[in-house]
Amino acid sequence: MSERTGELAIETTGLVKVFGDKRAVDGIDLRVPAGTVYGVLGPNGAGKTTAVRVLATLLRPDGGEARVFGHDVVKEADTVRGRVSLTGQYASVDEDLTGTENLVLLARLLGHRKPAAYDRAARLLEAFGLTEAAGKQAKNYSGGMRRRLDIAASILNTPDLLFLDEPTTGLDPRSRNQVWDIVRAVVAQGTTVLLTTQYLDEADQLAGRIAVIDNGRVIAEGTPGQLKSSVGSGSVHVRLRDAHLRPEAQRVLSEVMKTAVQLDHDPVALTARIMPEGGATGPAELASRALGELAARGITVDDFSLGQPSLDEVFLALTEKTQQQPARQQEKQEAVA
Ligand SMILES: Nc1ncnc2c1ncn2[C@@H]1O[C@H](COP(=O)(O)OP(=O)(O)OP(=O)(O)O)[C@@H](O)[C@H]1O
Ligand SMILES: [Mg+2]
Repeated sequence: MSERTGELAIETTGLVKVFGDKRAVDGIDLRVPAGTVYGVLGPNGAGKTTAVRVLATLLRPDGGEARVFGHDVVKEADTVRGRVSLTGQYASVDEDLTGTENLVLLARLLGHRKPAAYDRAARLLEAFGLTEAAGKQAKNYSGGMRRRLDIAASILNTPDLLFLDEPTTGLDPRSRNQVWDIVRAVVAQGTTVLLTTQYLDEADQLAGRIAVIDNGRVIAEGTPGQLKSSVGSGSVHVRLRDAHLRPEAQRVLSEVMKTAVQLDHDPVALTARIMPEGGATGPAELASRALGELAARGITVDDFSLGQPSLDEVFLALTEKTQQQPARQQEKQEAVA
């Protein structure tokens, strides 16, 4: 990999973009090291696409600063444009053209001569598993094939920085995996990738660092591991034999584990998040102590698992914090105590 020491592909300070009275991007600070995959994670309307469009010089910021490889996105927009490429959230291929025609047309627009354009198109179609579909019109492609064609189009010229805006939204697991492989291959060639996603596992799989954004602001930033450990070191999931013993099990678990215990939809199931401030006791020890205590009270456990917190749990915990503030968390803790 080519993480050039210290070089930043993207640096923003207090970046703002306003639509009417909506602050779509509301003071975002980002530092994206060159040569890495950086994940921008957030729900619908968080401001992901807006931020990407500002960075790709397609929208003018209303406040703050943004630099791409040290170049200001407003004052040096042309230089920035020469180094970036964007795959939008909505596929931009021409429906009536075939895979080959789409890529050749774009390659020609980028200045490649005809033989070179055909050559590049054929190589990319092969790399993306589209050789068989090369002669078919894009309107007959599946969602996954179209996404792959779209990404192929954005790397006809190897960009220094590639924006992928929700590249796998709506794809089935197999197509998602194919796109992930493509992203890894692109990065291995030295391109920096800024990837927006609503899927936490996607950011977890691909990104070295992640910014979680909500309402136009960064609410957390770090490596996937850091984000996970900021909300707890894991969770214990228990299924009881008797549903009527669940309230007592909830009390026991929250006492032993000193954490909120959540009642799942399944009437015999409970989940407890293990908090890092739970002392020096490791998750496994804490969990076995909790199980011992349940057994001692005659509560039979049919099934038990100990897992790392998923990034989904991290995201919920983070957005809960920003929306409800600590008072609500406290309330919850008290409700089960
Ligand atoms: N051109 C526009 N005019 C007015 N409002 C806009 C415009 N573009 C975006 N917005 C608003 O700005 C906010 C952020 O939108 P944005 O598209 O950046 O979110 P997003 O994180 O990409 O969401 P999604 O996951 O749904 O793609 C939303 O409230 C949206 O309605
Ligand atoms: Mg979007």
